[in-house]
Amino acid sequence: MPFVRSQGRLLANDIPLTDIAASVGTPCYVYIWQDIAARYAALERALSSCNHARICYAVKANSNLTILHRLADLGAGFDIVSGGELERVLLAVRRADQVVFSGVGKTREEIGFGLKVGIECFNVESDSEANRINEVAGRLGIQASLAVRINPNIEVDTHPYITTGLKENKFGLAEPDAIALAKRIQAELEHCSFAGIACHIGSQINALEPFEKALDAMLEIRNKLEAHDVDCASIDLGGGFGICYHDEVPLSFEELGSLIGERDLGDLKFGVEPGRSLIGEAGALLTHVEYLKPATQPGYKHFCVVDAAMNDLIRPALYQAYHAIEKVEDIAGEKQNWNVVGPVCETGDFLGLDREFEAREGELLAVMSAGAYGSVLSSNYNSRPRGVEVLVDGDSFATIRKRESVHDMLSAEVA
Ligand code: LLP
Repeated sequence: MPFVRSQGRLLANDIPLTDIAASVGTPCYVYIWQDIAARYAALERALSSCNHARICYAVKANSNLTILHRLADLGAGFDIVSGGELERVLLAVRRADQVVFSGVGKTREEIGFGLKVGIECFNVESDSEANRINEVAGRLGIQASLAVRINPNIEVDTHPYITTGLKENKFGLAEPDAIALAKRIQAELEHCSFAGIACHIGSQINALEPFEKALDAMLEIRNKLEAHDVDCASIDLGGGFGICYHDEVPLSFEELGSLIGERDLGDLKFGVEPGRSLIGEAGALLTHVEYLKPATQPGYKHFCVVDAAMNDLIRPALYQAYHAIEKVEDIAGEKQNWNVVGPVCETGDFLGLDREFEAREGELLAVMSAGAYGSVLSSNYNSRPRGVEVLVDGDSFATIRKRESVHDMLSAEVA
């Protein structure tokens, strides 16, 4: 169940968000476990036509240990992009055999770490990286499994910073280079075996068509590889499935499932790497209104100053992202077109601009669809400790990350 409004109050399951804020304070991220689990189950159902489907949750979207642990209990594997994320998976799940390691800049240490703990596969992004993995694997006496990431040059309608499958993006290899690398892995890199191909064309993509193009491009590459006697046992479509922030109508998992069902994948292992679509809408950022600063002179703006800022949720500042902002209680206030801003000393520090609602000092607001790329992107800018995270499960809630103290924040520094 997502967040619902009942009798003038916004609830997570049946718990008023005011109760959570009163208990743990604000800024506070709240996630609803039942919503995450329902989305996972829907994706699993959608992929049920595949003989071998695998969901590798993209840890970067929300890497809280409790979330990882619970997703693993549902059967999820993990897509990681750093040694730090691998540490998290190991702490939360205690195994790494369902981990795929993506990213263009894996260090020798990260590669060695991945090999030693037995990750399933490296999604390789360049020739040099494949050579390096081969060298580290040889030194450790461990065989590495490599999938080659394709850059299929597919246009997607999303913010330019989160396209990843265009020619100009740093990710993946053009088809001829990918095919050449796959052949070389099989023929020459003696400490590596070729597992298959992967792609990830971008994030917050609402249309089905780009995924159809990516899937067909990969199936074609697989045919070419097989024609060259290179056994391609898996394809990984990546993540990127959009969610609703405003009035978008994102593709459904069912549509994605039908698309895949229409292709005969046979014994091919088919993977996806969703992040946002599993957890984005299941989370909200709670914040109190500190001050109202309505304009009195022509041309000046009406500001609603809240206690969360760009250090808590950077998406509006970084991607001009829209997040709906809701009053948690239906209480009367001053109706204006408010710019909802934080205390950070930057003009880019806003959570929403020109939002018409009745605001009142002291009231609680919820910034919606903040479960993905919210708390993970938070920082200490302006020396603001990071906020608390809460998981609602059934009719109770628990803190899954404590609010950072000023002491925690300063502990690594030398005076
Ligand atoms: N796999 C790979 C290799 C990725 O790079 C990503 C995300 C995913 C999977 C998961 O994508 P998702 O299903 O969550 O769209 N901070 C940005 C989003 C950056 C996404 C980066 N890669 C934002 O707040 O919109």
